[in-house]
Amino acid sequence: MKLNIVTTESAKASESKAYALFFVKQSIQFSKVLTEAGSAQVETVLKGMKDGPFEDLELLEIDGSNTIFVDAAKERGLSALDHLRMAAYRLAGRAMKKQIACVSLFLADAADEQFKAILHGLHYAEYKFDAYKSKQKPNFQVTYEIVAGDRAGAFKKIAEEVAFENKAVVLAKNLINTCAADLYPAEFVQNAKTIAKYTPGLTVKVRDMKQLEKEGFMGHVTVGKGSSHEPYMITLDYKPTKRTSKDHLVIVGKGLTFDTGGLCLKPPKSMPEMISDMSGAATALAAIQAIATLKLPIHVSAVCCLAENAIGNKSVLPGDIFKAKNGKTVMVDNTDAEGRLVLSDGLAEAGEIGATHIVDLATLTGAMVRALGYAVAGFFSNDDDLALKVINCGEACCEKFWSMPLEEEYADALKDKFADLKNTGSDAGAIAAALFLQEFVPENTAWAHWDIAGTAFTTKKWKYTEYGATGFGVQTLIELAREMSQTN
Ligand code: BES
Ligand code: ZN
Ligand code: ZN
Repeated sequence: MKLNIVTTESAKASESKAYALFFVKQSIQFSKVLTEAGSAQVETVLKGMKDGPFEDLELLEIDGSNTIFVDAAKERGLSALDHLRMAAYRLAGRAMKKQIACVSLFLADAADEQFKAILHGLHYAEYKFDAYKSKQKPNFQVTYEIVAGDRAGAFKKIAEEVAFENKAVVLAKNLINTCAADLYPAEFVQNAKTIAKYTPGLTVKVRDMKQLEKEGFMGHVTVGKGSSHEPYMITLDYKPTKRTSKDHLVIVGKGLTFDTGGLCLKPPKSMPEMISDMSGAATALAAIQAIATLKLPIHVSAVCCLAENAIGNKSVLPGDIFKAKNGKTVMVDNTDAEGRLVLSDGLAEAGEIGATHIVDLATLTGAMVRALGYAVAGFFSNDDDLALKVINCGEACCEKFWSMPLEEEYADALKDKFADLKNTGSDAGAIAAALFLQEFVPENTAWAHWDIAGTAFTTKKWKYTEYGATGFGVQTLIELAREMSQTN
């Protein structure tokens, strides 16, 4: 996609050019758009439709006038900004399909966040994952001419930021969609090293299984030892030269490159989806790449907890007990509850490197999928301020978060007869998992745990994803770092 941000419209309508009119209610004045379009043809069409049901306009193309009308308020349940994203996403899809070389968007009256939303929608439409197809077909290249009036300068800066954010979203999606035979822990490490090499200010530290064992990171060892692909923990660090915040945000990501369930084997039906069980780690890696590229003035680290939960003659056995990094002993009641075990190490590492704030994200429980479905991520937090920021930053990025309780009444169910803890708890599976993680959160640290099991990967069309990784969380993490850098 090519973007031209111009002050006034630069060319007249031609066969290869279309006008896109966004009906952003209240914010972009309908009449103003009309004047700027300046096309008699457009005016005639619009006049004829004036009394019509504009609410029902989804994406309408009037043959002959090459005008695409986009009603930005359509989908049920989406915010105004997400309507804009969806509208732009569909517009771009239509333009690519119809092979329209240039589309003019009249956005001089759009607010910054509206422009940002439209750009994200355009970018989303470009994504496809065809690495495994025998024949790859490149997208038709559309140029978007953004008629920005006196906002051109501001819009150019926003466009650059959105391009960085989108690059991170694409990175996360590609990693998540890649099958486990090609993306195993060591391969993920290679990706992280390459990203660190080409991102100024980003450093990387890698621990292999021997090192993990030596330092007592036994969650990784316990989960990963059954696989021919050894586990790794990666710590990425971004320390800006100029900091406006004293906070140190550490993002911890569950990175199960595949989750068979281990000896407590999963049923086959939904197992292929478990290529996405490293979504937390991929999202953390992608987010820190963007945060460093955007040079946000806050110290951010990312800990990727990588392992493959496989069956082998060294696999952990149900009933086995190990000692976690913080000294607590854990009985492995169910080998399929493996995410929380590697995350216990990730949380310990976050503490060791001095986190003031931790966000861990993980495709952690099927229970969360049943509770909130695919559109909303449930999260848990021990800090009200951080919790509010998560919700607000999510809203700004069109990602929905719902606060869940760390219900202490269920904590007793995690007690084991022999060990301090066991890795499964009460009927409330998502809460039990969060309570388990809480046992490993370093003292005096603000912490939020995002369970993205429902939102990270979709098997049916959802918003701007046909099938596969959604990239959920990347933008909220970037926004959270941005927000934290501004409020402390
Ligand atoms: N990776 C799964 C959770 C998951 C389920 C992610 C569906 C995405 C979609 C996790 O490791 C798991 O298997 N959790 C178990 C825990 C249970 C054994 C306590 C679950 O949710 O069934
Ligand atoms: Zn599992
Ligand atoms: Zn898992």
